[in-house]
Amino acid sequence: MERTFAIIKPDAVGRRLTGPIVGRIEQAGFTIQALRLVRLTKREAEGFYAVHRDKPFFGSLTDFMSSGPAVVMVLESPDAIAKWRALMGPTDPGKAAPGTLRREFGTSIERNATHGSDAPETAAYEIGYFFRGMELL
Ligand code: RTP
Ligand code: MG
Repeated sequence: MERTFAIIKPDAVGRRLTGPIVGRIEQAGFTIQALRLVRLTKREAEGFYAVHRDKPFFGSLTDFMSSGPAVVMVLESPDAIAKWRALMGPTDPGKAAPGTLRREFGTSIERNATHGSDAPETAAYEIGYFFRGMELL
């Protein structure tokens, strides 16, 4: 078993897509190990995406991520990290295959509905950024 960290981003929560996306997660066979609604401050969004601090889109991305509530989750399955990224599709919804969450629910390269960890080390860091040991099943 492997764990990954996922976010339903503020664009999707704001468009009432939490239920459909959680449904897709469960249909795909993930077990939800933790789940919470959060409203990130600009500072918290900057900390979470610190790896992108020198990118041209950093200011816009952290404004967006702190613009409204988001759902943070820990998902478990065999090969969860790669499996969740495959279900999301690539960063740009315009390049994502039919059936992927970003293709169905994303509206731009920035407002792409979901986040997923990209490696075991980032998954561990990101889970710890949002969840204490006690909150994890
Ligand atoms: P994520 O970290 O959110 O799961 O997405 P990702 O790995 O597919 O993409 P990444 O390169 O890590 O970028 C993080 C988020 O920044 C926004 N972005 N905007 N305007 C742009 O060119 C641009 N590029 C990336 C997206 O919200 C992306 O998910
Ligand atoms: Mg990323």
